[in-house]
Amino acid sequence: MSLQVDGLITAYGSVQVLHGVSLEAPAGQVTCVMGRNGVGKTTLMRSIMGQIRAKSGSVKLGGRDLTAEPAHVRARGGIALVPQGREIFPKLTVRENLEIGFSARGATDQAAVEAGMDMFPILRQFAKRNGGDLSGGQQQQLAIARALVGKPSVLLLDEPTEGIQPNIIEEIGRVLRRLAGEGMAVVLVEQYLDFVKEIGDRFAIMDRGQVVARGATSELTGEVVGKWLSV
Ligand SMILES: Nc1ncnc2c1ncn2[C@@H]1O[C@H](COP(=O)(O)OP(=O)(O)O)[C@@H](O)[C@H]1O
Ligand SMILES: [Mg+2]
Repeated sequence: MSLQVDGLITAYGSVQVLHGVSLEAPAGQVTCVMGRNGVGKTTLMRSIMGQIRAKSGSVKLGGRDLTAEPAHVRARGGIALVPQGREIFPKLTVRENLEIGFSARGATDQAAVEAGMDMFPILRQFAKRNGGDLSGGQQQQLAIARALVGKPSVLLLDEPTEGIQPNIIEEIGRVLRRLAGEGMAVVLVEQYLDFVKEIGDRFAIMDRGQVVARGATSELTGEVVGKWLSV
């Protein structure tokens, strides 16, 4: 199923942060959302997930309008978010962190927990360790696996490579490509240009709460990058 976001306007109190953002994330593709710090990427992800209520605009998944639905209904409808900063539970074990992925969806599905550990084998090896004892990259893998146990059709990832060692970035990239290959719509917020060019199909660049450029990642020219992404 494809994700379609139209005209999202989101504010914190009286400060408007998203000024009518539209984004299409087709099934089977990796759609990258780029932009400098503070332009509204995280706010967009949280608005799509329903953790923040947009003032107007719509969020549709496979044609189903989820705009009026709270986050847990969107989760059951097939949207999952890997939040910026990972937010795993440090005092719970790896396995317990994965089981918590079901809290939004009801019954625990042990087969899906096992599948999450198959995706990143280090998680099986460390199943009984506390989440807080993993490295940053391993925690990111755990956060991704946790988002996947509910078998979403859309996976939103907010800067998953931030502060992570290159070999784990590569492993995450392979998993995201595989998920897209299986038909998932992957939305990747990413500042690391090489990673976008390597695994992304499409991009949207945001500036001050709006999408200012979009296209195929093959069209990410030096001019576009220089104008919107360099600091
Ligand atoms: N919870 C919040 N309350 C008030 N302002 C916020 C909050 N979260 C983010 N902002 C502001 O909204 C703008 C966009 O932030 P954010 O969506 O986190 O951007 P990005 O992810 O692109 O760095 C920034 O100006 C930021 O200071
Ligand atoms: Mg952010």
